[in-house]
Amino acid sequence: SVFKSNQIGSIAVAEQIARIIRSKAAKGQQAVLGLATGSSPIKVYDELIRMHREEDLSFEHVVTFNLDEYYPMSNRSTKGYNYFMHEQLFNHVDIKPENIHIPNGEISIQEVHDYCADYERKIDEAGGLDVQLLGIGRTGHIGFNEPGSHLESRTRLVKLASLTIQDAVNDFGREELVPSRAITMGVHSVFKAKKIIMLAWGEKKAPIVKEAVEGEVNEKVPATFLQKHPDVEVVLDEHAALHL
Ligand code: GLP
Repeated sequence: SVFKSNQIGSIAVAEQIARIIRSKAAKGQQAVLGLATGSSPIKVYDELIRMHREEDLSFEHVVTFNLDEYYPMSNRSTKGYNYFMHEQLFNHVDIKPENIHIPNGEISIQEVHDYCADYERKIDEAGGLDVQLLGIGRTGHIGFNEPGSHLESRTRLVKLASLTIQDAVNDFGREELVPSRAITMGVHSVFKAKKIIMLAWGEKKAPIVKEAVEGEVNEKVPATFLQKHPDVEVVLDEHAALHL
């Protein structure tokens, strides 16, 4: 879907997420949300917070799993995704702390393998993701699944592409300060979600959006794998849709 602005598109996405939360709650079930960081979902989170405040949208029975986190990364660092998610959403709604899952950038390298397998298991135990929210990086990454990531990839430690590192310089100040690795859910882990909503705003994303949506499906642009998912919605503003 193409919207006039990212504001209008974000409200439409927040409404879909709220509908999932409410319909699950009506059945006495928890909603399991796959969440993303970066600038793209910020207005979606703003709108969910507004709905929590003004329209009784409760997160009491919501379980969340975030896509990724830089590695290594302190959970208190203002640069990390743990901090970002609390600032942008969790601190402002009634979600239970034990229902929040974000890959832990503080674990030791020896623990990473088991930690990732466990993260994956927890998603399954929660009943799988009802919806996965995604942004897209200019390399075509989803989460931090950079070019070369397979359709079968699971939660794991990865190296960031140099374009991704350059795009993160804004947040970290200098290239040397950007972590070179991250823990990310795999393409497979994302793909298992019942529904996927991918967001992209602005002209900077237009070329990669075209490749993701119209390009040949292959691991050079991991976002192309989404073309094979049975329930995907790509939500764009007019600028990001420029080349379609
Ligand atoms: C980071 C995140 C991705 C996100 C991407 C795009 O690399 N790990 O999940 O999709 O940035 O960021 P933005 O939404 O700021 O363009």
